[in-house]
Amino acid sequence: LSNLSTIAVGFFWVIMHRLPVLKKYLGNTHQKKAISGQRQNLPCIAPLLTTVEETPQFISAEVRGHFPEWLKGYLLRIGPGKFEFGKDKYSHWFDGMALLHQFRMTEGKVTYRSKFLQSDSYKANSVQNRIVISEFGTLALPDPCKSVFERFMTKFELPGKLHDNTNVNYVQYKGDYYVSTETNFINKVDIETLERTEKIDWSKFIAVNGATAHPHYDPDGTAYNLGNSYGPQGSCYNVIRVPPEKVDPGETIDGAQVICSITSAERMKPSYFHSFGMTRNYIIFIEQPLKMNMWKIVTSKIRGKAISDGINWEPQYNTRFHVVDKHTGQLLPGLYYSKPFVTFHQINAFEDQGCVIIDLCCQDNGRNLEVYQLQNLRRAGEGLDQVYNSTAKSFPRRFVLPLNVSLNAPEGENLSPLSYSSASAVKQADGKIWCSHENLHHEDLEEEGGIEFPQINYSQFSGKKYHFFYGCGFRHLVGDSLIKVDVVNKTLKVWREDGYYPSEPIFVPVPGATEEDSGVILSVVITPNQNESNFLLVLDAKNFEELGRAEVPVQMPYGFHGTFVPI
Ligand SMILES: *[C@@H]1O[C@H](CO)[C@@H](O)[C@H](O)[C@H]1NC(C)=O
Ligand SMILES: *[C@@H]1O[C@H](CO)[C@@H](O)[C@H](O)[C@H]1NC(C)=O
Ligand SMILES: *[C@@H]1O[C@H](CO)[C@@H](O)[C@H](O)[C@H]1NC(C)=O
Ligand SMILES: *[C@@H]1O[C@H](CO)[C@@H](O)[C@H](O)[C@H]1NC(C)=O
Ligand SMILES: *[C@@H]1O[C@H](CO)[C@@H](O)[C@H](O)[C@H]1NC(C)=O
Ligand SMILES: [Fe+2]
Repeated sequence: LSNLSTIAVGFFWVIMHRLPVLKKYLGNTHQKKAISGQRQNLPCIAPLLTTVEETPQFISAEVRGHFPEWLKGYLLRIGPGKFEFGKDKYSHWFDGMALLHQFRMTEGKVTYRSKFLQSDSYKANSVQNRIVISEFGTLALPDPCKSVFERFMTKFELPGKLHDNTNVNYVQYKGDYYVSTETNFINKVDIETLERTEKIDWSKFIAVNGATAHPHYDPDGTAYNLGNSYGPQGSCYNVIRVPPEKVDPGETIDGAQVICSITSAERMKPSYFHSFGMTRNYIIFIEQPLKMNMWKIVTSKIRGKAISDGINWEPQYNTRFHVVDKHTGQLLPGLYYSKPFVTFHQINAFEDQGCVIIDLCCQDNGRNLEVYQLQNLRRAGEGLDQVYNSTAKSFPRRFVLPLNVSLNAPEGENLSPLSYSSASAVKQADGKIWCSHENLHHEDLEEEGGIEFPQINYSQFSGKKYHFFYGCGFRHLVGDSLIKVDVVNKTLKVWREDGYYPSEPIFVPVPGATEEDSGVILSVVITPNQNESNFLLVLDAKNFEELGRAEVPVQMPYGFHGTFVPI
């Protein structure tokens, strides 16, 4: 009984606590000062966020222009593709059932196919023709067949122990491909047939409740990732290492290790994170004020709320950087802080003159997760403009973290020795190092609505000083342009076609390339107009001019991430 009253009190506390946040958020959409990049009369994109059919048999694409002969391989992409079962509908964009897309390119020809990931979540929902597994933003209703006692017992659940609808990204461990989200499950897939071959539970190997969908890789194939662990004593952020080789052929992530555990600043409120940075020697973890309220999450079912309700932007906290030595697993002593911001995707990081330099796509507030409800994204007219105006735009910023700060370093002085970056790191009286960023862009990127889905020439330039990255511009709620950013000169090259929405650009090098940007950019471009085709686009990465497109008369929803696999 005392448990129940605690929960009841908590319930009211949560409602009272949420009210000001909601009011502020709703009120703000009208009062916000006009910044460039905000637009009016956005066309409705609801068809891009609607359930589609899978296309399990190969279909040939119609190639216009040309696909280079040397371009041989698969472009694999993933994203949500089914948003309801029977009468039940998902609430949040991130909840949709994973749809796997495959474009196969050989000798200038292109084929396409897609399949729904046969996850346990997908199968369970399909069998019952209703949503039986809760997702990030959707609470499954209790099974009417269970007894009252059983229903009560299933009301508490650990975050992470959720679902295997791994709809965010393709990742690689020991040479095998998996699809991943951020729960404890990853699904191994055969990239040729798009069939799931195995379901892996991180928590069976190491003490984590999940890992990001954006691991990093060393040139030898060693993978690094970051995963939370939750416990009664509090929460930790764990740096994970997965070795590159299999000792036995049947292995998956065997040999995975936690090499460093970082205690959350607030025990019951760890930060949400979506990616992290890596240089040759260091892992950089960013603890941002987008907080996961464990108490709210653990009680979410009993409160009738989805997990997403327990994640809140709390800008009273600053953003903090943690640097971990990859080889020793040691956390460096530097206390690096900056004003509050949120990052979903790091761009690249490298070391120079005793510093870690980290480039991130940053947003000044962390409310986009709550904005990305399907009912918001599917609006039309002024309602859609309002939603767009209320989203935080994302811009590339550089931070410099000096590694060797001695105890007698002068206070108030910039400790960054880098002549090429205006980012500063100033030691304060309390010993903290206050980091201020350098913008890696000029005003023209604001006109593009900011940039997300950053990609680089990874195998050659990850962890190294680099010149270019590629991403999507966001003059709409989904990407509506492809942008090449020169981070040295801060110039842009832009590809755009009105009414078309390109996906995350993937860089593929031309064989024997010697320059960072000799190669092509691949992006899947989709349109809500039923009378026009979606297509796979190939751009020359140097000048951003179109080489060709391969049209497929198949409806596709807007997806998240992907990868190129050469054959
Ligand atoms: C969105 O922002 C633009 C630019 O500031 C403004 O003109 C427009 O009225 C806003 N629309 C809504 C619905 O808030
Ligand atoms: C930090 O300082 C120590 C001693 O001065 C030196 O050995 C080490 O190489 C320095 N590390 C970096 C990253 O500059
Ligand atoms: C960019 O800057 C480099 C020097 O860092 C210079 O050599 C190059 O010409 C510049 N490129 C362009 C396109 O402005
Ligand atoms: C990156 O660029 C180098 C030099 O152009 C090239 O050799 C390499 O294959 C590229 N790698 C990737 C993954 O793009
Ligand atoms: C397709 O439909 C849109 C409006 O829905 C129209 O603007 C466009 O011209 C049409 N395109 C073709 C190729 O018919
Ligand atoms: Fe992502």
